[in-house]
Amino acid sequence: MDPTMREPAVLFVCLGNICRSPLAEAAFRAEAAKAGLKAVADSAGTADYHIGEPPDPRAIRTAAGFGIDIARYQGRQAVAADFNRFTHILALDHSNLANLQRIAPVGHEARLSLLLDLVPGREGQAVADPYYGDEAGFLVTWDEVSLAARHLVQHLR
Ligand code: 4NP
Repeated sequence: MDPTMREPAVLFVCLGNICRSPLAEAAFRAEAAKAGLKAVADSAGTADYHIGEPPDPRAIRTAAGFGIDIARYQGRQAVAADFNRFTHILALDHSNLANLQRIAPVGHEARLSLLLDLVPGREGQAVADPYYGDEAGFLVTWDEVSLAARHLVQHLR
């Protein structure tokens, strides 16, 4: 299919798919809805630690604080076939990006980059992993993924 004819399909990828990428998916869904942008959105982890599990309770509470329910999201692992299903694959940090590059099929057409590459002035930067910190770190994550989501929606519409 001609990629310019496709509805955007965006995959957000972190390590565990329970903290950063579910928040990024939720923020993008909210920003896309606000802007009237029709897009597919999903998230995944490069690791298999949390397959089938809901997001971290701290991520669920953080999203709930902004009126968004992510409690039914389910962790899954990123796979090579994602490169054919998604037009944009956005890694939350450099290690996630390297892991995705390792599984990317030759000749895929998905655009693969760091999520913060979309934010002027934050190119090349990672969204820090809040997993080992306290709940306040999840608010920082939310702010960063929301900012990136707004830029992504502007880029896609
Ligand atoms: P995430 O955070 O990659 O943002 O979902 C993590 C979740 C789980 C683990 C590490 C980071 N873990 O080691 O289980």
